[in-house]
Amino acid sequence: MPTTTWARLADWYDAKQGDDGDLWHRTLIDPAFLSVVGDVRGLRVLDLACGNGYLSRRFARAGAAVVGVDASAPIIERAKAREAKDPLGIRYLAADATQRLPLASRTFDLVASNMALMDMEDAEGAIQEVARVLKPRGRFIASLCHPCFDQGPSSTWVMERFFRTTKVWRKIARYRQPFADEMPWGIEDRTVMTVGYHRPLSWYARVLRDAGFLIRSLEEPEPTKEFIEGSPQGPYVTEIPLHLVIEAVKTAASRPTTRSGGRPGRPTAVRGRGAPKA
Ligand SMILES: C[S@@+](CC[C@H](N)C(=O)[O-])C[C@H]1O[C@@H](n2cnc3c(N)ncnc32)[C@H](O)[C@@H]1O
Repeated sequence: MPTTTWARLADWYDAKQGDDGDLWHRTLIDPAFLSVVGDVRGLRVLDLACGNGYLSRRFARAGAAVVGVDASAPIIERAKAREAKDPLGIRYLAADATQRLPLASRTFDLVASNMALMDMEDAEGAIQEVARVLKPRGRFIASLCHPCFDQGPSSTWVMERFFRTTKVWRKIARYRQPFADEMPWGIEDRTVMTVGYHRPLSWYARVLRDAGFLIRSLEEPEPTKEFIEGSPQGPYVTEIPLHLVIEAVKTAASRPTTRSGGRPGRPTAVRGRGAPKA
């Protein structure tokens, strides 16, 4: 089962997210993410790793001036097609967030990145680039797989009979060191792999600090009733969060040049299915 790239998943991902996001985004991750984002009216917003742009469109409808960037040219084509059909004034760019972006320094009030940092090999480079394009006091809000509980195939639910009840545990195999692994996605009757990069929580705190950010809030999205009823994992996610939302504010004294986080290395062999997203 070969590892694939996001570019090859563009059609599937565009259909999956549609205009409002799939069940996991719409009813689990986005409510917490959007509540941290708050009112975007009048703000300049960069949607980093925007996918098909469903959140870019939401920000634009709420009154923001939006730029959407994604490394996958085919997914940016899907985002542009949605924009052409129903124009909201969003500018989309196919660009790698871990390299210097074709965007001026200190221009954005908010960089929002939904479920993408753990897909980037050089997330530290991306965070430094976010610091460059943000205005002083600008905010960076990122949702990601929870480093403590969702590491793809290195984490799983375990069910255990305990007298008359069944206990559900979340089990992880490793945590402290960054590592890369293949992430399974159920696409129709196939399982397709992308590469994901685990880093411990302290890695994010250090890299954000060194790029000139102060962490303002951490949220662990709680499932809505619709998610609990709609996903077999709903009741388990009620107890153990699989996602994290980080809100960080760029301080005046950013020093975006040092590298301190450590790199995750190459993917290792898959040892079993993780928690494929419904
Ligand atoms: C799980 S998808 C999330 C997309 C979108 N934010 C959403 O919530 O639907 C991850 C996205 O990150 C993009 N991506 C991965 N590495 C990237 C990079 N280095 N620079 C920009 N985008 C990247 C992929 O192309 C993909 O569209």
